[in-house]
Amino acid sequence: FMKYEGNIGIIGHPIGHSKSPVFQQVALDHHSIVEKFRAWDVSPDDLPEIMGHFKSDDFMAACVTLPHKINIIPYVDELTRTAKQVGAVNWVFKKNGNLVGHNTDCSGFIRSLKDQTGLDPQSKTVLVFGAGGACRAIIYGLKDSGAKKIIIANRTLVKAEQLVNDFSDYNTQISAIPLDKENIKNIVRDCQLIVNTTSIGMSGGPLPKDSPLYSENIPPGIVGYDIVYAPVETPFLKEVQKAGGTFGNGISMLVYQGIEGFEMATGLDAPVEKMFAAFNKV
Ligand code: ATR
Repeated sequence: FMKYEGNIGIIGHPIGHSKSPVFQQVALDHHSIVEKFRAWDVSPDDLPEIMGHFKSDDFMAACVTLPHKINIIPYVDELTRTAKQVGAVNWVFKKNGNLVGHNTDCSGFIRSLKDQTGLDPQSKTVLVFGAGGACRAIIYGLKDSGAKKIIIANRTLVKAEQLVNDFSDYNTQISAIPLDKENIKNIVRDCQLIVNTTSIGMSGGPLPKDSPLYSENIPPGIVGYDIVYAPVETPFLKEVQKAGGTFGNGISMLVYQGIEGFEMATGLDAPVEKMFAAFNKV
């Protein structure tokens, strides 16, 4: 008895609110691929069973979201270099009969950042708030695009220090500091980009009205990016705006990770504009 149907889709738990099926279907239809992009609601206990389904000959690809991005690693046959370095998988696809785990959150972030703010992180100094799961892909993306220096500010310092351990090298110097406003005030003057990867400012989160930094301490001309996209304009982005900076949010990162995943999985060009139009309609 096989509980799961379909050859391409997204797995997560919960999965009800995912917009991926809508904007991915547009890409399948654009290329006349007769498949339905599924939403597989898979609890951690059911992960082995669906991975069995993915081994079938017809399986194409799956986008992977919470809570499976790390847990899925033992079930794939190989990881791309990017997935290995990030330490998380957000796409699985077939290559020569093998299940390959890949990560497009990092390149999706960079594409979203460039698209929304025009900033290229190459040789820039970046302040990053947070050191959680989402942060690893952001740090890797920044590093991969040639950022010179990254300062990670996090409430729990040891978690930021772990990221320094994992990612700092000759090309990209990374350091860790506590999330302390006084400390940050001095550091921010040397930065060209600030990225919030914490849940500060997220509606329904622990501090929905708060910002990790306020406008009086934000240098003019800064670029601010918030991976939080609910609300669309977070308190942090409002502060960036008040300081005269340019800003972007994580909405288009969601679409770009999917665009890059579709292209990796199918070897076809994604219809970028159509996918954005579909995403914005739901
Ligand atoms: P994600 O996978 O989305 O990054 P996460 O791994 O839970 O989620 O990470 C959440 C981030 O938000 C962490 O950096 C967390 O700080 P800690 O490492 O100290 O937990 C940060 N965060 C969450 N709530 C916070 C709060 N009230 N104040 C400051 N930072 C907070």
